[in-house]
Amino acid sequence: MYIVHTTWMVVVNSLRERGISSFCKYFTWKVINSIKTRGLKRTIMDILCFIEDFSFDFKYGTNTMSPVRLCALNIKSENKIKGFKYRPTRAKPFKKLMTTLDFPDDSVFVDFGAGKGRVILLASQYRFKRVVGIEFSPQLCKEARKNFAIFKKKSKTFDQVEIIESDVVDYEIGDDENVFFLFNPFNGTVMNRLLRNLAISLEKKKRKIWLIYNHPVYRDIIESQDIFYKLDEFILCGSDFVIYTNDLS
Ligand SMILES: C[S@@+](CC[C@H](N)C(=O)[O-])C[C@H]1O[C@@H](n2cnc3c(N)ncnc32)[C@H](O)[C@@H]1O
Repeated sequence: MYIVHTTWMVVVNSLRERGISSFCKYFTWKVINSIKTRGLKRTIMDILCFIEDFSFDFKYGTNTMSPVRLCALNIKSENKIKGFKYRPTRAKPFKKLMTTLDFPDDSVFVDFGAGKGRVILLASQYRFKRVVGIEFSPQLCKEARKNFAIFKKKSKTFDQVEIIESDVVDYEIGDDENVFFLFNPFNGTVMNRLLRNLAISLEKKKRKIWLIYNHPVYRDIIESQDIFYKLDEFILCGSDFVIYTNDLS
């Protein structure tokens, strides 16, 4: 029922913004284009995924869907201009990914650039020992904490969740942290610094890690260094994920 309601709301809002004729043109163009490039079956799958994704907030009463530009936020870090706007990882592809990958039982999940916490909420439903979100916007941290408090009441989740207000480059990576998630949060300069911090953390505490990169715009930077190698790559419901790991030998 909530899926029907949310789809209806999306259609109504879009109709309000575009008007009926340009909405129909836009929608038809999108669908035809998708059938041409991805085929009919994938297009239908994508539409279903899209509907489930849009219904996430309605189902849980959270507020994770609406994008926020960083220029509208009060962020002190000099890396503000190197960061990209908040938008959430899509729920359905993330869930599919979590059931595809296999991590050790005591794994700790870290989302670099957690925003309003969509990924943190989702990850808290899997078998992680802890889930940590790093976010440099105080407003988004506040939203993420509020979202988690609401989500916890309505879903089967655990308490070991922390949202830390920090720039990712200043965050000291914990010795037990081993699954790292990035949804295109920042540019190559910040990515380089983060990779350096990860390398330092691995020197300090040798361990196997997984680096999950959603919408991997700066993948060349990861692939041009010799610490991480590509383990796998998936396109799930139209979302592109690359998984990297390290060699322990
Ligand atoms: C595309 S959103 C991803 C949100 C969330 N990880 C998800 O997948 O739903 C990127 C987020 O990274 C944050 N961000 C960008 N640069 C950052 C930095 N240097 N330190 C901490 N957070 C950063 C932005 O504020 C934004 O909320």
